[in-house]
Amino acid sequence: MAGLVGKVALITGAGGMKGIGRATALKLAAQGADIALTDLQRPPEALPPGEIRQQWRGIASVAEEVETLGRRCLQVWCDLSDSAQIQAMVQQVATHFGRLDILVNNARAIIGRDKVPVTELREDVWHHFLAINTTAVFLCTKFVGQVLVQQGQGGRIVNIASDAAKRGSAMGAAYSASKFAVLGLTQASALDLAPHRITVNAVCPGPVNTDRLSYWEQAQAEAKGLSLEAFRAQIVAEAGQRTPLGRIAESEDVANVVAFLISEDAGFVTGQAYNVNGGALFH
Ligand SMILES: NC(=O)c1ccc[n+]([C@@H]2O[C@H](COP(=O)([O-])OP(=O)(O)OC[C@H]3O[C@@H](n4cnc5c(N)ncnc54)[C@H](O)[C@@H]3O)[C@@H](O)[C@H]2O)c1
Repeated sequence: MAGLVGKVALITGAGGMKGIGRATALKLAAQGADIALTDLQRPPEALPPGEIRQQWRGIASVAEEVETLGRRCLQVWCDLSDSAQIQAMVQQVATHFGRLDILVNNARAIIGRDKVPVTELREDVWHHFLAINTTAVFLCTKFVGQVLVQQGQGGRIVNIASDAAKRGSAMGAAYSASKFAVLGLTQASALDLAPHRITVNAVCPGPVNTDRLSYWEQAQAEAKGLSLEAFRAQIVAEAGQRTPLGRIAESEDVANVVAFLISEDAGFVTGQAYNVNGGALFH
């Protein structure tokens, strides 16, 4: 399929070996898009064990895979907590490729420190979640939106939200609030950008089998005397049993829906929030 030949996609939080960002990059590249990958430069000790074992190099490794598919790829290290870095990153991508067509807001704050009752939630943790999960999505939408409007050829923005954007859970105040806000931002941006034929949609995954970084999972694994990978495998298996389709999502399940929303076939779909959860939540 070559439906995205000539298009350029920017994907945030794209360096994880099992992450939704990487799966999306490979899916869009396979359909012909050139890709800009961005992520935070993380110290080796902050990487999941599987990535350390395989000497994974984050977006540098994903870039090699994109280029193997015959597509151009630009890597930009960017801390999404910094508005100036976001603006410079968008400018760099647009200048490098000479255009920009697609934005996938995929990055999120590293989870775990938020996983406490609301009465114990630290203010700095709350602000960090809002900064990365909501404000950075707004800023990327704003700066990429400006490029798309000026280009005058339409465009696509997809925000990766969560089932936590539709249903709160205990010990999830900061995460849920930040993701509920993404759906409001998605709807309002869809209306602002509709006259420019730019669609804005969200995807709401349930649990996904990624190597997501979680300080909470690290602490739980240590307390139980398990390796992080063994503990994570338990969580994945248990969540799969609770899911009507009998497993949790793989990153590719999410990337498939992102690719649909980016395709020409989804040209009349905007302001929506698509669930990818194996039947676990319906609204
Ligand atoms: N994994 C799941 O179970 C799950 C479930 C529902 C929704 N989601 C959503 O899917 C998306 C991707 O999740 P994932 O599990 O693939 O990835 P992840 O949680 O492992 O990583 C997200 C990425 O964001 C990056 N990031 C963190 N802080 C940053 C900062 N300050 N600046 C720039 N980048 C930063 C990380 O480096 C990482 O590459 C997220 O938006 C998440 O909320 C994930």
